[in-house]
Amino acid sequence: MKKNTVVIVGAGSTHTPGIIQSLLQKKEEFPLKKLILFDIDEERMNMVKSIMTQFIEEAYENLEVISTSDYKEAFTDVDFVFAQIRQGGLKMRSCDEKIPLKYGVVGQETCGPGGSISYGIRSIPAVIEIIRQAKKYSPNCWILNYSNPAAVVAEATRREFGNERILNICDMPVAILLSYSKMLGLKDWTELDPEYFGLNHFGWFTALYDKTGKDRLPELRKLILENGMTACSDKHHKDKDWQKTWKQYAEIIKDYPEYLPNSYLQYYLYSSDVVKKMDPSYTRADMVINGREKEMIEEYQKYLANPSEYKSPIQEFTVFGDFIVDAAASIAYNKGYRYLVIVENNGAIPNLPSDVMVEVPAYLRSWGPEAISRKPISTFYKGLIENQAASEKLAVDAYFENSYDKALQAIAINKTIPSTNIAKAILDDFIEANGEYWPRLEKKSY
Ligand code: G6P
Ligand code: MN
Repeated sequence: MKKNTVVIVGAGSTHTPGIIQSLLQKKEEFPLKKLILFDIDEERMNMVKSIMTQFIEEAYENLEVISTSDYKEAFTDVDFVFAQIRQGGLKMRSCDEKIPLKYGVVGQETCGPGGSISYGIRSIPAVIEIIRQAKKYSPNCWILNYSNPAAVVAEATRREFGNERILNICDMPVAILLSYSKMLGLKDWTELDPEYFGLNHFGWFTALYDKTGKDRLPELRKLILENGMTACSDKHHKDKDWQKTWKQYAEIIKDYPEYLPNSYLQYYLYSSDVVKKMDPSYTRADMVINGREKEMIEEYQKYLANPSEYKSPIQEFTVFGDFIVDAAASIAYNKGYRYLVIVENNGAIPNLPSDVMVEVPAYLRSWGPEAISRKPISTFYKGLIENQAASEKLAVDAYFENSYDKALQAIAINKTIPSTNIAKAILDDFIEANGEYWPRLEKKSY
């Protein structure tokens, strides 16, 4: 079995320990030759490396592990790039969330004007640069990208690279499937084969087949309507704030019982209700800083106090890690696992344009994802998706064309926005907050 050299880009993330755990636990299915950690923030990267070293040494005898912030060292002779960067860090996430809230608009990491447009335009050049460097030093490597906002980033990488050997993925469908499988008394999320259509963080499950071929969606719908959604059991998606999402999830199904939604649809279908529950001075970014971030720093301090005796408590892997390693194994060994991934539509959803990046089930082969096509979708879903896709495409246009007008259109068309004057005010604040992260946007003269 061929062994793999993997580079984790954005290795200083609090999600990296979970990914490393998965790589170690799945060493039979996806053996490592070398593990490379890459981050521009060396201090954070060293934190992660220090607290994980003990596990790596227990799982692999003599695995070469390096950490670097040099492109050549990071990307030479690699098989897989796991890219999970957060351009601007949590500080900029906080701006993306707080600026819209100032105007009574949804302030969310990947949704609405902050998530799609501000973060989108900021992420695009950083992700493109990583991919360019990776392809320069390892032209045959596979890039598994789940840098957010995944929908906007996927559209940008489609335009820049035709998504050649690039797979854009998100863990949210898996996190939801994990809950479903537990609620149905199944052992694991892989026991359900979902039918699903939509965009990233914007889609619907239409069927959930178990291993006997029975569609369990009707049974699950009934369970959720009667008892609510049982919180996900993975470490990441069960914290206090995520519980609110699972509570709201059951509400969506009461109003729209036909299919089971991606939880992110709450931000579009209940925008003003969600805003009422948000605190504009203390958003999710603050919770993450005072939660996961703090825990990681505390662990590092324990390590520093006694490096030779240190035992990391970070043993649980998250769906983030679980999914990305399985996806890589499927590509590396041509397993053809069926997962939800973000691909160019090309007829998979027949009544949507072919050049939209959609999230649908696909078989992951060594030559790439083979998307599964489905029947046309009905008006409600089509209308919502086309609106959201237009907002995302306009954000990518704004970046490539340095266009203020397109950025304004991207925000104004977004379902979370009540008026153009609010869109303008938000855009002007974003321009200031993003500074050098954004290209200089120009107004076209007419
Ligand atoms: C899910 C989504 C990710 C997103 C994350 C945010 O896992 O799929 O795209 O980044 O949630 O979670 P957080 O705990 O940071 O708010
Ligand atoms: Mn996601």
